[in-house]
Amino acid sequence: MEIEHRTPLATGAGICGTAEESPTSSKHQQPRPGAASTAGDRVLTATEADYEAVRTTNSLLRLPDVPGFYWDTESYIREAIREERCMVVKNQTVLKGAMVLERRGPEAGYARESLAVGSLAVRPEYRKTGVGMMLVRYAVQRARQEGLRLYAESFFPYRKVDFYLGLGFRRGPQRYFHGVPYHVFFLDP
Ligand SMILES: CC(C)(COP(=O)(O)OP(=O)(O)OC[C@H]1O[C@@H](n2cnc3c(N)ncnc32)[C@H](O)[C@@H]1OP(=O)(O)O)[C@@H](O)C(=O)NCCC(=O)NCCS
Repeated sequence: MEIEHRTPLATGAGICGTAEESPTSSKHQQPRPGAASTAGDRVLTATEADYEAVRTTNSLLRLPDVPGFYWDTESYIREAIREERCMVVKNQTVLKGAMVLERRGPEAGYARESLAVGSLAVRPEYRKTGVGMMLVRYAVQRARQEGLRLYAESFFPYRKVDFYLGLGFRRGPQRYFHGVPYHVFFLDP
């Protein structure tokens, strides 16, 4: 798969963590080269037209006990779309799931430059059909191509330990967001 970076990925805290890709013609939402496709599902770079669907999908992540939760806010999503680091799985016009990719680095307390899945959510009616794995595998592929570690970060209530370990991630020490602990998973290239 060919990947070119047009814009740097944002740095910061994430709850599900990884990297972004960049397309040759994202405005037309060409399928990402090399992205897995199952029964018409395609990994695409989100456009402004996807904003509302991504926002409602990311709102599924909202946890009542997390102060400062921002992964479904307009600024977070619009910036990710603008910087071409919001990936979606679509089947024709139906948006099934979304992932925002971010950068991690020493300024955020990480030992090395890395990629991270900032958010990952699949609409309930499309879960357990491989959409989430398709997005994460895409992120894994991106990180490998860039030779970077890939992080996935997940608040405990999401119960995603088996999901990430099953995708080959290892567990790192837990971290805290506004005092709320979350799991940290990582995968080296
Ligand atoms: C976590 C989430 C993104 C996963 O998305 P998903 O599309 O359901 O993920 P997948 O279908 O790829 O995989 C989920 C499970 O279904 C299984 N699965 C995949 N395709 C399947 C199929 N065709 N038939 C049966 N099971 C299948 C996978 O093996 C996986 O099993 P595991 O959880 O035991 O590892 C989704 O559940 C979600 O949005 N949850 C709410 C938000 C959240 O928790 N986000 C994660 C934050 S880190």
